[in-house]
Amino acid sequence: MKDLRTIILAAGKGARLKSDIPKVLHNIGGEPMIDYILIIAKSLGSLKTNVILGHQSEKVKEHLPENIDIVIQNKLLGTADAVKSAAGNFRGYKGDVLILSGDTPLLKKDTIKELVRHHKKKDVVCTFLTAVVQDNFGYGRIIRGMNGAVMAIREENDASKYEKNIVEINVGAYCFKSEILYKFLNSIAVNKKKKEFYLTDIIEVLTGNGQKVETLETDDAKEGLGVNTQEDIAVCYDVIRHRILKDLMRQGVTIIDPQTTYINAKVKIGRDTVIRPFTFIEDNVKIGSHCMIGPFARIRADVKLGNKVTIGNFVEISRSQIGNETIMKHFGFLGDAVVGSHVNIGAGAVTANYDGVNKNKTRINDQAFIGSDSILVAPVKVGKKAVTGAGCVVTKGKIIPDGKVVVGVPAKIITH
Ligand code: UD1
Ligand code: CA
Repeated sequence: MKDLRTIILAAGKGARLKSDIPKVLHNIGGEPMIDYILIIAKSLGSLKTNVILGHQSEKVKEHLPENIDIVIQNKLLGTADAVKSAAGNFRGYKGDVLILSGDTPLLKKDTIKELVRHHKKKDVVCTFLTAVVQDNFGYGRIIRGMNGAVMAIREENDASKYEKNIVEINVGAYCFKSEILYKFLNSIAVNKKKKEFYLTDIIEVLTGNGQKVETLETDDAKEGLGVNTQEDIAVCYDVIRHRILKDLMRQGVTIIDPQTTYINAKVKIGRDTVIRPFTFIEDNVKIGSHCMIGPFARIRADVKLGNKVTIGNFVEISRSQIGNETIMKHFGFLGDAVVGSHVNIGAGAVTANYDGVNKNKTRINDQAFIGSDSILVAPVKVGKKAVTGAGCVVTKGKIIPDGKVVVGVPAKIITH
């Protein structure tokens, strides 16, 4: 978008999380919280994105993409001070600046797009997002005059008894005319109770100076949820999880029981695949169409399944590929395996992929038959149409030729 730059506030300590991990790196649905905000900035075509860092800045910096402008806020003196610390990057810039918080992962890109559009259309100095919520504790309350025009934002600590009952709150997403924002930012006085400079005080400064401020109310109050506690993370995850499942269902995936299905954000699943209850699917997983997954399946990171694959109960798969129409219906484990198509893997089959030092690969070729309770001590290769007998242990380094049958412990080829 022309004339738009973004600031993401992410310097805060997140003390209420009681965690050693920086707040914005906490994982929600497979993504660090800040990624949800970075995606919004990118999707709006923001020309430059400034991320304000402070507490544990090095750790957060490591995670950020290279095209981000990192600004260090030396002392955590509040949200207004955080914006001030980026002033150098806005000198001479005449466009708009979108300010978002790194701790509001439920914001939708369409809402922020609408916020920016509204701002440009009304041609005001500031437009910010509000929400009407049931639990307003901790949020800035929106103070409006008799005519309904917004006058100020009042933070929890400073709100009167009457103001505390206001259910319209500040989400923490603002669009400003950059030059005017930076002109008035210095007029914000320190909050005496918290010894911080509140960005929210800019509203009263602007309206007091005859500048026009507009608000936009979200129609989905959940969007405004700011993550401050571990409980908030759980609430956010629940919302994000259901959004992911809804998206998949819209693409033709059957999810029998969304209440017990956990699928991470970037998982891809083909149409008519059925996900049965109590299934977990983690990062970077791609599942073809017409597959049957679960119940009680756990598909961990970096797994690719072809079409018409069946993965049944108590199966765990990690860093593996499985070809079309392969079946693994009952409990077992596949790790670092490449499995062909039309393979049958019996109950209790296990790849022993880790020898204590290295993770080793297992290769099972097309139409092989892995008998119940087979243990494949990787690295191992099972040839095309080869068979491993029930309860066998295929020892490290073994290559079973195409069409051969092995049985026993250690597994040996049966000669006819
Ligand atoms: C803030 C708003 C509040 C709003 C709520 C929405 C202020 C004063 N209050 O409150 O009106 O309802 O968000 O979730 O802005 N940060 C910095 N540097 C600092 C302090 C904070 O970068 O010195 C960052 C934090 O990392 C966070 C964001 O700013 O990402 C908001 O700070 P936080 O302390 O979480 O503010 P809230 O109390 O939630
Ligand atoms: Ca917050």
